[in-house]
Amino acid sequence: MLNALNEIESAGLTELASIEDAPSLESWRVSYIGTKGKIRGVMPMMKDVSKEDKAAVGKRLNEVKTALESGFKEKQSSLKGGAQAGSTGPSIDLTEPGIIDSHTLGREHIITRVRGELVEIFARLGFEVAQGPELEDEDHNFTKLNIPAAHPARDPIDNFYVDDPSKVDTPRMLRSQTSTVQIRTMEDAAAKGWGPPIKIVSPGRVYRPDTVDATHSFMFHQIEGLYIDRDVSMSDLMSTLLQFARAYFGEDADVRLRPSFFPFTEPSAEFDMMIALKPGSEPSWIELGGCGMVDPNVLTACGIDPEEWTGFAFGFGIERIAMGKYGIPDIRMLFENDVRFLQRV
Ligand code: DAH
Repeated sequence: MLNALNEIESAGLTELASIEDAPSLESWRVSYIGTKGKIRGVMPMMKDVSKEDKAAVGKRLNEVKTALESGFKEKQSSLKGGAQAGSTGPSIDLTEPGIIDSHTLGREHIITRVRGELVEIFARLGFEVAQGPELEDEDHNFTKLNIPAAHPARDPIDNFYVDDPSKVDTPRMLRSQTSTVQIRTMEDAAAKGWGPPIKIVSPGRVYRPDTVDATHSFMFHQIEGLYIDRDVSMSDLMSTLLQFARAYFGEDADVRLRPSFFPFTEPSAEFDMMIALKPGSEPSWIELGGCGMVDPNVLTACGIDPEEWTGFAFGFGIERIAMGKYGIPDIRMLFENDVRFLQRV
């Protein structure tokens, strides 16, 4: 029996040494240390061993068995990933990260990024995000914003009408300004009773049939702000714009209002920001957008009592800010989707 054991040991270890894959290791395991393997095969011979030799032969049996088992374990872990007993397929680590190809990794478009940054800052000032449809109607784009029927802003030449204004009572159109969302939000608040107070910003696309050039596009983005509450004043408007400017452009930013006219605000102003658009450049006054105190006619049109509530509104273009902040010279670059540009900004 000792001879048999010695032979199993040396043959087993030699064979084991030459094994290079999991399936061969598995068949080795079955033939040597499995339940029908060679080690089990020699066990019945124990009964023929003389009494005095039993202890020594038993010891040798254990040695050989242990040697083969530990040889098996070593081999198992040295084969990549370790062969699973009972499995014959290649072992795969499902938790290992894949190979990342940076050429196919997407990223946020610059406009999406800036829009997110703006919303984030206004959120810190207590403004929630409100949405409105891009396919609007004249009622929300003009009438309820106190823009009279004969106002030049309504000219079909300057708007994307979907219905013929001379044939339809409330013609549909692509919205030309995000001020429409002021109306939608106030109507909703009044109808459902959740406000005022109302404190929202609304970023989104607007459409105007402008001739495309370096600073004009027939589609661009605006962000609208609206705050309706008791005793809201022009100084609240000013401080909101100033806090926004400093949060986004840095502590040196400043804001000034210039008297202006918009049908939906009274008084109205245009606002400029003193900002260094590019890092290290000298700050200068940049015209940004319009603002003012919401006209009582607008509040009334939306079912809000102007004797009880007052508010301010503002709106400005997102491209202007993105182009300045990231040094983009031509608005068309934002919409051509040239991958070389998109990867750079
Ligand atoms: N909607 C205006 C525009 O597109 C901008 C604007 C002016 C928005 C005054 C306002 C505002 O909310 O109060 O030119």
